[in-house]
Amino acid sequence: MTPPAAVSLRPALEAVARAVDARFDRLLDVPDDPRARLFRAMRHATIGGGKKMRALLAVAACDLFHVDRERALRVALAIEAVHSYSLVHDDLPCMDDDDLRRGKPTVHKAFDEATAVLTGDSLFALAFEVLADPLTHEDPFVRSELVLELARASGPNGMAGGQMMDLEAEGADFDLATTTRLQQLKTGALIGFACEAGAIMGKVSPGVRMRVRGYARDLGLAFQIADDLLDVEGDAETAGKALHKDAAAGKSTFVSLLGVDRARAQASMLIDQAIHHLNDFGPEADLLRAIALFAIERDH
Ligand code: IPE
Ligand code: IPE
Ligand code: MG
Ligand code: MG
Ligand code: MG
Repeated sequence: MTPPAAVSLRPALEAVARAVDARFDRLLDVPDDPRARLFRAMRHATIGGGKKMRALLAVAACDLFHVDRERALRVALAIEAVHSYSLVHDDLPCMDDDDLRRGKPTVHKAFDEATAVLTGDSLFALAFEVLADPLTHEDPFVRSELVLELARASGPNGMAGGQMMDLEAEGADFDLATTTRLQQLKTGALIGFACEAGAIMGKVSPGVRMRVRGYARDLGLAFQIADDLLDVEGDAETAGKALHKDAAAGKSTFVSLLGVDRARAQASMLIDQAIHHLNDFGPEADLLRAIALFAIERDH
């Protein structure tokens, strides 16, 4: 099957971004009390920025299994909340020390460091509050599985563990296996959850869930290789963030280990593999196929 053109993806991304932003807007009504600054910072971190690719992945995976759209959007919001939290903390002076994110000042620049820490904490908690709410699914087993898997994907065996490895990668000589694990944890785990959440919500069989997981694993790794390629050859204005940071920090990445051409070939091979995992699905998986192509063709 020929995968659909990546260009058809733009309207789908824009629609999901609007829908998720509208829900953040409703949840993060700024209170008329001394917490106002925190709510404004949470809005700054989430609304009107970012590709919302993880949200679209969650919605596309939910669509595959006929999950109600409103519920799928709650899961999408939870994932974007965790992702945004990870970026707010990633940009802090004690981590990557970045001033620009999504074309805007980072949260600690627009507000201050303490507010940025609390913004991350609050977005992280908000994600679980949304998932554990009966509005997300009437079956408590489904809700607890969502909570369990998001916790796994975010903690020391997921994103936070990958971020620790990423800090250790500065000046270290990580080999390809260690770098692969770093990327899988740092970026792959949350992308994996975005896809698997569709299977959890749809209560599909373990076999079907395995195929979704295979797709997500290859996509997640390819997505981070594309981020590392962007860091080397992207345009900072289009990316909306500072680039050329990995080499400056002496970080082991796929690009530092393999060079640009082989890293790009590796990402492209992984995307072929990701799409291959969807072979048992028909046109209903076209959106997931298009997202996979976009993950490595993107310029931001
Ligand atoms: C950036 O993720 C951080 C990585 C994990 C590579 P995205 O490229 O998805 O960032 P946004 O959400 O579109 O800003
Ligand atoms: C961040 O990776 C991944 C997270 C888990 C937040 P990077 O540090 O490479 O992301 P950018 O390049 O700042 O977006
Ligand atoms: Mg980082
Ligand atoms: Mg960073
Ligand atoms: Mg990067």
